Amino acid sequence: MSTPQEFTDLRALVTGGASGIGLATARMLAARGAAVAVLDRDITGLAEHPGLLGVTADVTDDPSVVQAVRAATAALGGLDILVNNAGIGATGTVADNDDAEWHRVLDVNVLGLVRVTRACLPHLRGSAHAAIVNTCSIAATAGLPQRALYSASKGAVQSLTLAMAADHVREGIRVNCVNPGTADTPWVGRLLAAAADPDEERAALNARQPLGRLVSADEVAHAICALASPLAASTTGTAIAVDGGMHGLRVRRG
Ligand code: NAI
Repeated sequence: MSTPQEFTDLRALVTGGASGIGLATARMLAARGAAVAVLDRDITGLAEHPGLLGVTADVTDDPSVVQAVRAATAALGGLDILVNNAGIGATGTVADNDDAEWHRVLDVNVLGLVRVTRACLPHLRGSAHAAIVNTCSIAATAGLPQRALYSASKGAVQSLTLAMAADHVREGIRVNCVNPGTADTPWVGRLLAAAADPDEERAALNARQPLGRLVSADEVAHAICALASPLAASTTGTAIAVDGGMHGLRVRRG
C-alpha cells in the first residue's frame, strides 16, 4: 500500500510559474501529489515539464486573468491552493523612476496579485483546504539601497497578506507569504549579466548573505509548500523569511 502524499487530491495554481521560484514551487507541489496549473505571460519554459498545465495570461490584464483562471479551474476541477508569485524588479532611489515605471511595477507586483486572487476566491471558497501563499521579499522588511519602488511594492504585498488573512479566515482560506532573500533564479542571472563585473557582483551578493551564498529557488519553494500544506491548517497571516539569515542576524565577518 502506498502512503498518500501531502497534496494528493489538491489543485494548485502558481502565477509566474514558468521560471525561477514559481517553477520550483509548481514542480514541488506536483511531486507531492497536487494537480498544478501555471499562469504566466510566457509559458515556453514549461515545455520540459509536461505534468504542469500552462495557461497564458498577463497579470496586468484583467480579462486575460479571468479567462486563464476559468480555464485552469475547469481543467483542474476546482482550486485549493493559489501561489501569487509573478513579479518584476526595479532599481533606483525614490527619485530615479518616473510615474510610468511606478505604475508598471505596482501593476504587476500588487494589482496583479489582486486580480488573480479576485478571480480565484470563488473557487477557493469551495475547498476544504484553501490556502493562498504570496511571494513577498526581504525588501518588505529591510531597507535595501536602490530598491525604492520594488520595496514599496513588496511592502504592499506583506500588508495585503495580513489584510487578506483577516478578511478570509472565517471562510477557511489561509493567507501567508514568504520573504526570500536574493535567490539564484533567472531573474538574478539577468541582473548579474547586466553588471559591469558579473563575478564581482555575485561575490558581493553572496557576501551580503550571512549564510555566504544566495538562496536557492527550491529552498523558497519548500517554504511555500509548507505554508500551502493542509498540515499548516492553523497558520495564517504569517511571513516566513527564506533569506539565509539576512533579515534577522548580525554576524561578524571573517
Ligand atoms: P523569474 O523572472 O525567474 O520568474 C518570474 C516569472 O513571472 C516569469 O516566468 C515571468 O514570465 C512571470 N511574470 C512576470 N511578469 C508577469 C506578468 N505581468 N504576468 C504574468 N507572469 C509574469 O523571477 P523569480 O526570481 O523566480 O521571482 C519570482 C518572485 O519572487 C517575484 O515575485 C519576485 O519579486 C520574488 N523574489 C525574488 C527574489 C530573487 O532574488 N530572485 C528575492 C525575493 C523575492
